[in-house]
Amino acid sequence: MTATAFKEYKVWGLPSRIFHWVNFLSVICLVFFGILMMYKKELGIVSIEAKLALKEVHVIIGYVFATNLLLRIIWGFVGDKYARWRYILPGAGFIKNTRNYIRANSTGEQQQYLGHTPTGRLAITFIFILLIVLMSSGLIRAGTDIYYPPFGGYVTEYIAAPDTNPEDIIPYNTAGTDADKTKQLKSFKKPFGVVHSYAAYTLMFMIFLHVFFVIRAEVKQGGGLITAMFTGKKIFRHKPVDLDE
Ligand code: HEM
Repeated sequence: MTATAFKEYKVWGLPSRIFHWVNFLSVICLVFFGILMMYKKELGIVSIEAKLALKEVHVIIGYVFATNLLLRIIWGFVGDKYARWRYILPGAGFIKNTRNYIRANSTGEQQQYLGHTPTGRLAITFIFILLIVLMSSGLIRAGTDIYYPPFGGYVTEYIAAPDTNPEDIIPYNTAGTDADKTKQLKSFKKPFGVVHSYAAYTLMFMIFLHVFFVIRAEVKQGGGLITAMFTGKKIFRHKPVDLDE
């Protein structure tokens, strides 16, 4: 490592930072309303109107979360250097870089990266997979559970009894629905609910690990990576490993 004076590097562009904080806030709200839904009985939320309202609020925040995530996925293909998937996913040379990174850190030489560290890439990739699973299963549940867009219209059309206008079908009410098709819908939507819940528990655990390791890296290696998510800039004393990539 070459010792130099402190130098500032522009790493995260505005779109990446906006994604990060919109994602952060929407996930916190989704977890909050998700937990309320899980413990609704214990919290005395028993009326159908209240249960429905909880789901509706969760789904509306879910749309903000999903739109933000879809934009970020596109940005990963067209955006600035460090926002690209090439700088996020564990690509070529990943095993070698991870070995070097872990070896260097265990000998006290703190390797610094402009983009994500090799272990950071692994964690972020896993978090993105969880977010995509939560978005997909959530949108399917929104359609099959409370007939919300983008799939709700197809669902009500499918379960409507022959003499019923699909638009008259309301959640938690079997009036106007075909009994057999409603039963089919129930077994179709169940696994998506299970996947959604387990992905949510795993994400909560990953958020805990993410915060822990970011603080640890900040304390041990410096570089201002927490501040960088606000300003976009990292500050290093030594040459970052991935500067010339
Ligand atoms: C980070 C993202 C998300 C997290 C952490 C999350 C979390 C949760 C949790 C903890 C539950 C309660 C599960 C249960 O009752 O067992 C839930 C239910 C639900 N979520 Fe999400 N969610 C997320 C995204 C979304 C999105 C994007 C949508 C749709 C737009 C959505 C739609 C739903 C629906 C409809 C339910 C109710 C399903 C049911 O009653 O079983 N979620 N979510």
